[in-house]
Amino acid sequence: MAPSSSTTTIRQMTTTVFLLLLLVPATQNARSIVPRTDRELLDFSLNLEYLEAEFFLHGSMGRGLDHIQPNLAGGGPPPIGARIANLSPLIRPIIMQFAYQEVGHIRAIKSTVPGFSRPLLDLSVKSFAKVINKAFGRPLFPPFNPYANDINYMIASYIIPYVGLTGYVGANPLLKSNITRKLVAGLLGVESGQDAVIRTLLYERAALRVLPYGITVARFTDKISKLRNKLGHAGVKDEGLIVPAYYLLGRGIITGNVLAGNTNSLAFSRTPKEILRIVYGSGKEHVPGGFFPKGGNGTIAKGYLRKRKLDNWPSHV
Ligand SMILES: *[C@@H]1O[C@H](CO)[C@@H](O)[C@H](O)[C@H]1NC(C)=O
Ligand SMILES: *[C@@H]1O[C@H](CO)[C@@H](O)[C@H](O)[C@H]1NC(C)=O
Repeated sequence: MAPSSSTTTIRQMTTTVFLLLLLVPATQNARSIVPRTDRELLDFSLNLEYLEAEFFLHGSMGRGLDHIQPNLAGGGPPPIGARIANLSPLIRPIIMQFAYQEVGHIRAIKSTVPGFSRPLLDLSVKSFAKVINKAFGRPLFPPFNPYANDINYMIASYIIPYVGLTGYVGANPLLKSNITRKLVAGLLGVESGQDAVIRTLLYERAALRVLPYGITVARFTDKISKLRNKLGHAGVKDEGLIVPAYYLLGRGIITGNVLAGNTNSLAFSRTPKEILRIVYGSGKEHVPGGFFPKGGNGTIAKGYLRKRKLDNWPSHV
């Protein structure tokens, strides 16, 4: 009968609409129940995840997020100067695995908080060479090229995930929701794993002299860690692969420092402010530069950038 069949159709349509209404807000709900502080902290970490993802993707495969998962880049500008590195059959697959781990991290963060599109990143030789020159307090000749070989790439990798790691340690006690705490614990676990792999590979080669500089790998790590401590302006939160014997018990027999940690071997923590000072290379959270020529995105990073404009900081600061 016509009336009943149209009633059925209407009922089916109503059910369908009702189900759609249930489904659509489901993802929005998952996001909206994330408290504001948690959202801002996760947004902040997205800046670093983009940096790591693009460095590892390009370094291992010569292609970035725009090829691997363009929706995650969200139409943000492509990174400056990123390229494939000259890596051995041992190191390339390791870096490729790191790369996909970072893609997963971006996906996980963006399914929890709205996030933003990929910020402008500077992954050029010049950008890394600047960090290394600053670390040594003098220009190295030829300029340090992160993409030249295994050892250079791993030294450059020593610069990046560790900063993210200290950020997650710092963010964790500030998080209110168990959803974001679970996510951050998961991110921290894998970031520290990456850091451990990089440090172990470098530790194996600690006494090796990096060509053509004749400077040991251990010394590179020590200088980079000291630079990060200096830029962060918040004490010692970073240590190279070999530390002075007086840091440790056991009368200086052990000076190796394969993992960095405080006196109780707990991971160091850094605030977003300290991290921005380091990744901008400026030592100032309101002065962008370094790996983020236009600064980071999200409420926290943009807040510092806005402060600069409001206070009308002279451009040379
Ligand atoms: C920050 O993210 C928003 C949202 O994705 C985007 O519209 C904006 O252009 C981004 N700003 C910068 C400086 O990258
Ligand atoms: C968060 O806490 C609620 C309430 O205690 C619980 O039902 C939920 O399973 C927890 N979620 C996670 C991801 O642990």
